[in-house]
Amino acid sequence: MTVICSSGPLLPPLNSNPSTRANVTENIAIEGRNLGFSVKTKQGKILPILKDCSLRIPSGQFWMLLGPNGCGKSTLLKILAGLLNPTNGTVFVKRPKSFVFQNPDHQVVMPTVEADVAFGLGKYNLTCEEVKFRVSKALGAVDMLDYLQRSTQTLSGGQKQRVAIAGALAEACKVLLLDELTTFLDEKDQVGVIKAVRSCLDNSGEVTALWVTHRLEELEYADGAVYMEDGRVVVHGDAASTMDFIKSRQSAYLKQINS
Ligand SMILES: Nc1ncnc2c1ncn2[C@@H]1O[C@H](COP(=O)(O)OP(=O)(O)OP(=O)(O)O)[C@@H](O)[C@H]1O
Ligand SMILES: [Mg+2]
Repeated sequence: MTVICSSGPLLPPLNSNPSTRANVTENIAIEGRNLGFSVKTKQGKILPILKDCSLRIPSGQFWMLLGPNGCGKSTLLKILAGLLNPTNGTVFVKRPKSFVFQNPDHQVVMPTVEADVAFGLGKYNLTCEEVKFRVSKALGAVDMLDYLQRSTQTLSGGQKQRVAIAGALAEACKVLLLDELTTFLDEKDQVGVIKAVRSCLDNSGEVTALWVTHRLEELEYADGAVYMEDGRVVVHGDAASTMDFIKSRQSAYLKQINS
């Protein structure tokens, strides 16, 4: 179902009965309700960045978050990741959750692929065998198992992104929040990373991903999409209808500048 929303409530209200509420939440991996985020300028003015944003993403699905530069995508993703606190509204995101950044060079910190994927597991009390098992399984999920012993410095941008995703999967991450991973990648790496995420979700059945992108063609890999403009969620629904909506917006914009 696509909901196109210019004003008013975006999502149907959740049942207020707590027992039914729990059942609804069970199948939802990410939910933001009426989220607002404002900052104070140097002049002391309140600058609203997110305005009453709501979204709800079912477990096990691959959703995309799109919108023009500066519309608030990264801010919304950071709120969902818990890196920023909303000024208003409520957030629910299944745990463990992981935020993967845009720049591949900010993702990998250890000298080898194996050590990098194992890095986050240090905080759990796991045996060596369990760590090795998790690392291999996670690298297999992103088709990087052959690179286990490789120096991370020798990886391409797309391979680094896949290693970063493997790090999150090794920690049994339930939700992946991915901010414009393909921006710095060439076409082959872009497709490699997006296909790796898609197949992780298809194979696990319980990992959910929210992928911020500018590239309309990436929508073909998505189950659903959220489109934002000027700090608001404008469309929330299936990928095909969201694509149609964005294309109509783009052609209206082109007509406007041509006239
Ligand atoms: N701490 C801040 N102080 C002032 N303005 C901010 C702050 N954080 C974000 N903004 C502004 O909020 C708006 C939304 O920023 P955000 O980075 O979320 O956009 P975006 O949709 O991710 O853009 P892009 O597509 O370029 O990555 C921008 O105009 C940005 O300049
Ligand atoms: Mg951004």
